[in-house]
Amino acid sequence: MENFDFIAYKKMVKTYQENNDPTGWFDSIYKNVQGDFTKVFWADLEPSPYLVAWLKENNIKKDTKTACVIGCGVGDDAEALSEFGFDVTAFDISPSAIELCINRYKNTKVNYVVADLFDYPKEWFEKFDVVYECNTIQVLPNGYRKKARVAMSSLIAKDGYILVSCRSRNEGEKEDEIPFPLSKSEMDEFITIDKLKEISFLAYDDEQTPSVPHFFAIYLKQKLQ
Ligand SMILES: C[S@@+](CC[C@H](N)C(=O)[O-])C[C@H]1O[C@@H](n2cnc3c(N)ncnc32)[C@H](O)[C@@H]1O
Repeated sequence: MENFDFIAYKKMVKTYQENNDPTGWFDSIYKNVQGDFTKVFWADLEPSPYLVAWLKENNIKKDTKTACVIGCGVGDDAEALSEFGFDVTAFDISPSAIELCINRYKNTKVNYVVADLFDYPKEWFEKFDVVYECNTIQVLPNGYRKKARVAMSSLIAKDGYILVSCRSRNEGEKEDEIPFPLSKSEMDEFITIDKLKEISFLAYDDEQTPSVPHFFAIYLKQKLQ
């Protein structure tokens, strides 16, 4: 993204994290674009093709099917889920992000909400048939990542799915600046700790130059657990 000062950004994030306020800076990213959602540097401005492919192949047959998008940013993935017939709740800790979504999609059916994954409304517990997470864990540090994963899993209804899209790193590789990609063993905690069942796991390199390694995984919360 032209004109974005990544050095200052990484320094700013580090300062928040060192002050144990790892979510205190997100709103500034959205606020600083002054209403122009196309200037949010991490926004692809289109839904994940992996999410769309899954939606095309997997028709959840229910009268009302619910989906939740975590850290929804500027809303492309939430709108895609809505187009596939889901009753969508999309939330972000950043009020400015939610304002961008509401202004961007004037006729949306998505319920865009300001909420914190670490303190979400209690009625969302195990409510959603599909939970979509893209790139939220990787912008959180240390223990907050595990806490985030547990909270994400708790949003999934019994018999529901979570789709997780993120940057990836090799086991043992250390990163000391944002984004902090996930390792396979970190992803596996959805299985070993949250007791979800892995349905599919894809490791791929994206189309940027140079390409960036990613994971796209799908887990199921089985009824009997
Ligand atoms: C790297 S951005 C990804 C945004 C979007 N998912 C995408 O793929 O473009 C991470 C998002 O998570 C949000 N976020 C971070 N911590 C959060 C929390 N505790 N609760 C809700 N949203 C959070 C941020 O405000 C930001 O919009």
